[in-house]
Amino acid sequence: MYCWTPERAVTLLAEHLANQNLIKHCWAAEGAMRAMAVRLGGDPERWALAGLLHDLDYDKTKDDFPRHGTVTGEILRGLGFDDEELLHAILEHSGNVPPESTMGRALYCADPATGFVVACTLMHPSKRVAEVPVEFMMKRFSEKRFAQGANRDQMRMTEMWFHITVPDLLCLVRDGMAVRSREIGL
Ligand SMILES: [Fe+2]
Repeated sequence: MYCWTPERAVTLLAEHLANQNLIKHCWAAEGAMRAMAVRLGGDPERWALAGLLHDLDYDKTKDDFPRHGTVTGEILRGLGFDDEELLHAILEHSGNVPPESTMGRALYCADPATGFVVACTLMHPSKRVAEVPVEFMMKRFSEKRFAQGANRDQMRMTEMWFHITVPDLLCLVRDGMAVRSREIGL
């Protein structure tokens, strides 16, 4: 298998994504997925790479959502990437195919959680992801109008699939993201 380093992935993200905030979101997912892998017994480096690359095709599919995830697979296979399980997890995160693998389900739940944690961090006086208390996040979680784009039902699936409660998920994601504080800028 070709060796895919985070550096190579970052170069690719810069080629494909125009929005710096989206690249930061990819780093947030990278950190979150590493933490999810540690909790769920996955390979942290592979899961982190899935997080980093999961929205690679965003600009190409934002007006064609049914192809979100599929196009990432096409791009990466075209470059010799052959970790099909990882590519399938990326496809699953979009919900365009049912999330059934452990890695895909983890990404499906962690993706909206990263956006939610960013929104909480921006609201918190510290503006530092590592310093946002779980109580603060759970209070925001119950506020329907707060960070409406962060799908609560998608995050809640972590309870059914992994027996990880929402507060536990938010702490995992927050702590995973804190490792990438420099890249995320929070
Ligand atoms: Fe995403």
